[in-house]
Amino acid sequence: MFRTHTNGELTLANLNEKVTLSGWVQTIRDKGFMIWVDLRDRYGITQLVLDEERSSKELLESAKKLGREFVIQVEGTVIERASKNPKIPTGDIEILVSDLKILNASELPPFTIEDETDGGEELRMKYRYLDIRRNPVKDKLIFRHKMAQKVRNYLSDNGFIEVETPVLIKSTPEGARDFVVPSRMNPGQFYALPQSPQTFKQLLMVGGMDRYFQIVKCFRDEDLRADRQPEFTQIDCEMAFVEQEDIMNVFEGMTKTLLKDITGQDFETFPRMTFADAMQKYGNDKPDIRFGMEFVELNDLVKGKDFKIFDESELVVGINVEGCAEYTRKQIDELIEWVKRPQIGATGMVWIKFQNDGVVTSSVNKFYSEEDLKKIAEKFGAKAGDLMFLMSGNADKVRTQLSALRMELGNRLGLRKGNEFAPLWVVDFPLLEFDEESGRYHAMHHPFTSPKTEDFHLLESDPGKTRANAYDLVLNGNEIGGGSIRIFDKDLQSKMFDLLGFSKEEAEAQFGFLMNAFKYGAPPHGGLAFGFDRLVAILDGNEVIRDYIAFPKNNSGRDVMIDAPAPIADEQMNELELKLDLKS
Ligand code: AMO
Repeated sequence: MFRTHTNGELTLANLNEKVTLSGWVQTIRDKGFMIWVDLRDRYGITQLVLDEERSSKELLESAKKLGREFVIQVEGTVIERASKNPKIPTGDIEILVSDLKILNASELPPFTIEDETDGGEELRMKYRYLDIRRNPVKDKLIFRHKMAQKVRNYLSDNGFIEVETPVLIKSTPEGARDFVVPSRMNPGQFYALPQSPQTFKQLLMVGGMDRYFQIVKCFRDEDLRADRQPEFTQIDCEMAFVEQEDIMNVFEGMTKTLLKDITGQDFETFPRMTFADAMQKYGNDKPDIRFGMEFVELNDLVKGKDFKIFDESELVVGINVEGCAEYTRKQIDELIEWVKRPQIGATGMVWIKFQNDGVVTSSVNKFYSEEDLKKIAEKFGAKAGDLMFLMSGNADKVRTQLSALRMELGNRLGLRKGNEFAPLWVVDFPLLEFDEESGRYHAMHHPFTSPKTEDFHLLESDPGKTRANAYDLVLNGNEIGGGSIRIFDKDLQSKMFDLLGFSKEEAEAQFGFLMNAFKYGAPPHGGLAFGFDRLVAILDGNEVIRDYIAFPKNNSGRDVMIDAPAPIADEQMNELELKLDLKS
């Protein structure tokens, strides 16, 4: 038997018991006449002790051979510690070792495997299996597991059946690039890895499964960010014979259950905001409503005062940053430079200070009297001590830029607290968005999303104005889920493909299987998919999903541990009939 107990469970209640423990050597303190070893496993740390008085010479000798991360097995007696450690559950006891076996030696690890480590990001990714031994990483994986359990329970309790869908499929048009897999048996042909199981879950509804879910890997070849990985996990769901309201209720219920579990709090009905309002008030379709700084539009107050930049702008819009009037010139200039970085792309920014002494001043005093500025401050609802930032330009662009500033200030001012949760439904998304580059409409969600019945007439006359039965669930400024009511009528689906610029032949080749299925009694249906990695990270007070994935990719999409992607052997290339044309 390797162990009678784990390293996280022995307390004074076990005093004088004879135990066997196994684990990794985290630290060794060798005072010559006395040796302490911290023994670690998934469950915790137990202190081992050996000394000249109570341990045999051979035992002390073999303990002296130990190194960090050696795997050992010890036998010993639970004794009370002289100096207790209240920070760990086993802190009152230690094990007086009577036998020690080295199960496996270890090379010196490339970084310290403790809560605080000296290892850089890249090094820890390369030795991810060592990083997983550390509490901060291990605990996140355990948290993820618990969330998955709760999700499975909730959905099973609500009549959902988990069904696995294939991974080698044909491309699903979700807007990102596909990862493709060559087929040896069908030379020159490729599978695509699913960006989501979208079409399969709809086919399961045609198949009468009624309520489906799957915790499933999805693959998207897109640029990576803190909240994006090329392979990520969805809680993918679909329901038949439902309306938007039914779907929102089920998944609001699930989110509330998870939130209750973590915070102990009961959440009220989640607020809802239309896409149009979200864009106008926050410049963003996933607003973080944990803090204010709502946008205030100022065209009526700032135009016609000979300030050319504002006069020539489609939209002048700003935010009020409470209590920041004391910002120095240097701090403000730094923020102006921040919005002018190419990633944000603003041309400049105007500030107005409502000073503590009641004077209102600005960077554009030349054009605006104090009276003018006071009127603007009033529209912001600003008070003495507040600082306002104004940006201008093309309405869509300036909203996006101001939104980035708002989020940055939210971060800098500590307004985005990880342990505060503000869920929000964003509804009434546009069905289509016009893509300037290709000169045609794209589906904002995906091509299977149903237009709102009351907007059907717009499909012909003004497609860009058509709203969709689509909804996103936003948590703390992150899109954690999205879904829609689907088209279930083959003629409407065919019209949709038409609008999206697919020829009849293309639509048939890509989606013939779905349109065909719709001929055989497709029920009304709809669904939603959560980004599971995002949900887990945010519920744990974080936003970086990589930390919640056991073996993640780095920002260039590489797994630096196994060194993938990598070239394949010529033989494999030949077998797949893949030829590299190095010239082109
Ligand atoms: P959507 O494309 O909105 O919808 O994806 C659903 C959710 O998945 C998460 N997500 C990601 N998470 C990590 N890395 C990524 N690269 C990534 N991309 C998306 C987001 C997002 O809200 N089939 C539809 C769902 C439906 O209509 O039912 C779909 O996939 O949290």
